[in-house]
Amino acid sequence: MNLSIVAPTKMNQTETTVCKFSCLTLAILLFGLLNACKKSNNATREHINFNSGWHFSLSDSNQYSRAGFDDSNWRSLQLPHDWSIEGEFSPNHPAGVGGGALPGGTAWYRKSFKLRPADSAKRIYITFDGVYHHSDVFVNGAFLGHHANGYIGFQYDLTKYLHFGKQDNVIAVRVNNSDQPNSRWYSGSGIYRNVWLEKTAPVHIDYCGTYISTHSVSRESAMVTAAITIKNTLFAEEMLEVETQILDKNNRQLAKVSSNCSAPPNDTISIVQHLRVVQPQLWSVENPTLYKTRTYVRSAGKTTDEYVTNFGIRYFEFDSNKGFSLNGKPTKILGVCNHHDLGALGAAIHSRAVERQLEILKSMGCNAIRTSHNPPAPELLDLCDRMGFIVMNETFDMWAIKKVEHDYSTIWETDHNDVLVKHLLRDRNHPSVMMWSIGNEILEQWNSSGIHIAAELAETVKKFAPGIPVTSAMNHPQPDNYIYRSGALDLVGYNYKHETFEAFPQQFPGQKFIATETTSSLHTRGSYNMPADSIRIWPVQWDIPFYEGNPDQSCSAYDNCRAPWGSTHADTWKIVKKHDYLSGMFIWTGFDYLGEPTPYQWPSRSSYFGIIDLAGFPKDIYYMYQSEWTNKPVLHLLPHWNWEQGQLIDVLAYTNFDEVELFLNDQSLGLRRKNDGDLHLAWKVRFEPGTLKAVGRNADGTTATNSKTTAGPAAKIALHADRSLINADGHDLAFITVRVEDKNGVLVPNADHLIHFEVSENLSIAGVDNGSQVSHEPFKANYRKAFNGQCLLIVKAGEREGFAGIKAKGDGLETALIQIEMK
Ligand code: GAL
Repeated sequence: MNLSIVAPTKMNQTETTVCKFSCLTLAILLFGLLNACKKSNNATREHINFNSGWHFSLSDSNQYSRAGFDDSNWRSLQLPHDWSIEGEFSPNHPAGVGGGALPGGTAWYRKSFKLRPADSAKRIYITFDGVYHHSDVFVNGAFLGHHANGYIGFQYDLTKYLHFGKQDNVIAVRVNNSDQPNSRWYSGSGIYRNVWLEKTAPVHIDYCGTYISTHSVSRESAMVTAAITIKNTLFAEEMLEVETQILDKNNRQLAKVSSNCSAPPNDTISIVQHLRVVQPQLWSVENPTLYKTRTYVRSAGKTTDEYVTNFGIRYFEFDSNKGFSLNGKPTKILGVCNHHDLGALGAAIHSRAVERQLEILKSMGCNAIRTSHNPPAPELLDLCDRMGFIVMNETFDMWAIKKVEHDYSTIWETDHNDVLVKHLLRDRNHPSVMMWSIGNEILEQWNSSGIHIAAELAETVKKFAPGIPVTSAMNHPQPDNYIYRSGALDLVGYNYKHETFEAFPQQFPGQKFIATETTSSLHTRGSYNMPADSIRIWPVQWDIPFYEGNPDQSCSAYDNCRAPWGSTHADTWKIVKKHDYLSGMFIWTGFDYLGEPTPYQWPSRSSYFGIIDLAGFPKDIYYMYQSEWTNKPVLHLLPHWNWEQGQLIDVLAYTNFDEVELFLNDQSLGLRRKNDGDLHLAWKVRFEPGTLKAVGRNADGTTATNSKTTAGPAAKIALHADRSLINADGHDLAFITVRVEDKNGVLVPNADHLIHFEVSENLSIAGVDNGSQVSHEPFKANYRKAFNGQCLLIVKAGEREGFAGIKAKGDGLETALIQIEMK
């Protein structure tokens, strides 16, 4: 694309209502890379979901790019799609257990489509939000390009290759994920994010062509700058009027500005407009108020484009003494790191699955997400904006020095600037994004090249997204670290090493701090190793093979098992909580993820680090955070109450009640209060069957109870849907928790019954899971064994309105039925 500096022709102020106005032209610096952002469907622009009607083959031939190739016997599917998650687990897949023990390979996707004759006057683009990885895209046999990075989105202009009217067009996409191992975690394979077809007028706002930034923000007013990039694909200069409005969530117009400029032929220009919002509602984690800009481009009085961009108004600061504040309010960043897979759904993005994850985290009191270690799906950031999460957006897991054989370092030199710029252009409007990480545990920390690479990357972030502090998640927390020495970081980010946090002000005088990654404590939901207060360090050292551990490859859920480089949840939170200058932390991890099953090898195939298991069921430690991070009354008792007669059991309570009294079969076992800094209460109890009951009491008289009862033999199945009303759109999901219970409704804690599912016609099964880190059952099936009493069924809506039934059956268990309504 052309790079030009355009002198303004004439700029007119046509209206200044509540807004202060100015209009400038700007140099265009965007390297032809602008990416998929916010759009709207209207008379001038069609933003079309292009996910349906694809044909797929897990095979490779150069014939598949041909327009006339007959793909009629290929599998039909709907995107987003991840072929790896459909495969069988095996220790022999080259990705290894680190990559989830699932297959890679090379595959093709093809789709035929028609365009209206009237579309021939338009520009037609295809946007891929993410393809893992090394994609080659063809349209009607013509090669459009190769895109290597598996996480950032990209767009191609199809216009000159297309047929209009009766003749079909064919898109063919080759996806090559055979260069294994190329990731330290499960990547997924395929066109695993959304695909869009964009139809615009010849003069239109470019891909990711709006940059909305806010300045001088207070509760009284905020200045909003809209930088709009417009593409003129005509061979004539166009005189344009560009109008930008600011709308609140009720579409009430708060400000408007209009300016005139000329767009040179076959080129791109950028204009900058300034607006003011009076008494803005500031975006915060509690009240994530969103605004939007609506920009009209007009030529000769005719609207050629209309484009909507969401944004928020807030201000924030990192301070070397006081830590982080949002809109002037001191706020500890209470974050988690997550990888992008969605458990049984694999890497295939689904907004509802992400929203469910965020709901579970929000309810724990979590207020921040780190997108470890790559550009996330656009939907994640939209949800963080809407639900009130602070985001550390991270671009890379390695630079030029490799971590695994075929990783991104192999193309670092030629590719990284393109990816970082695309990532910045795509994500800089999100009010949730308040930190930008240029890399995780980058090996150049120990190599002098780290100085210039860090400087280069930070400069790029500052050029495209000034105002977002730059950090890097470093695991060499010493001042001789080359990335630190570059002087390019606004925020010093440490991974782990919590024992050195207190020396930070002396070691890094005047620097601002964020614990970019902490903890790496290892838990299996519902599994307990006693004594609860003796810590297992598994493996003993990161580079010493680990052969001990539990025979069933579980890790204890008492928060007493951790990786050697990590720390327990309790130890980590205690220190972060203590010092204001520690602005917050990102726990490794919120959710278990596929791959990296530290401390074990095969047959384990997914991680133990999550506060929440792969199926989305909270582990006990979830309630420690909830008791500390929320104002909800929390009283959570562990473990279950099915043990051997006389066995000495460690009983813990996570609570924020002033005092808790424990009873076994109505006999008091004593009252406990937390001493300064305690994060749980503990009792040692000789097991006898019956009911263990905790009673929490506050000074103001409020009370709560929580109990664990010895389960009898498994007798029935209980089903619980996260939502019993879902959209009849052929896409929405309901997550059904499946519990194996005794006849009184008590969860049977070790139950591992095989459960079979039947769903009525208008529903389908999207996946099954149970959170076990060693299960090799398929995720795409109509059955699943329970693990520690529970499993999960994910059902997908059909397109008809009405009720649909779900039946769950297991040998020796009373069958369960529930209904889901679709509307
Ligand atoms: C960190 C790394 C993460 C993950 C984690 C496991 O060092 O940044 O990606 O590997 O260890 O504990």
